[in-house]
Amino acid sequence: MKKTIFSALLLAGLAINAKAQDFPEDIKPLVTKYACTACHKVDARLVGPAYTDVAKKKYTNEKIVELIGAPKPSNWPGYPPMAALKVPKEDAMKIAGWINSLAAKSKGKAKKS
Ligand code: HEC
Repeated sequence: MKKTIFSALLLAGLAINAKAQDFPEDIKPLVTKYACTACHKVDARLVGPAYTDVAKKKYTNEKIVELIGAPKPSNWPGYPPMAALKVPKEDAMKIAGWINSLAAKSKGKAKKS
């Protein structure tokens, strides 16, 4: 059952969004389903900040989940405000955990923030 849902999401993701390429296989279906990819890329600014830049803020996973449901545009001067999104906690936690995993990877790279 779970597998069927996953495959369906994956297919939908592939069909809808070519921009989601940089996202890992387990995260891609989520960020596509909730349309995060319309405004966010992994490591470049789009409408919203790159997830690698969000990772630099060192939020807890819980905090990221909270911010998805209730964004604080004042955290990102120079960006338009993000609309509050309804993402089920379980899925939001997966996305949040992945965003935070980017912090480790980007260590040592370009230090401008
Ligand atoms: C319509 C465009 C848009 C969509 C869709 C969107 N975002 Fe954003 N996001 C933004 C913008 C713009 C910002 C920076 C301004 C702000 O935080 O309000 C942002 C900021 C964020 C932040 C940083 C919050 C902070 O306060 O530091 C996170 C985390 C985030 N988005 C995650 C997501 C996730 C996950 C999704 C999909 C569920 C998503 N966004 C969908 C535009 C979007």
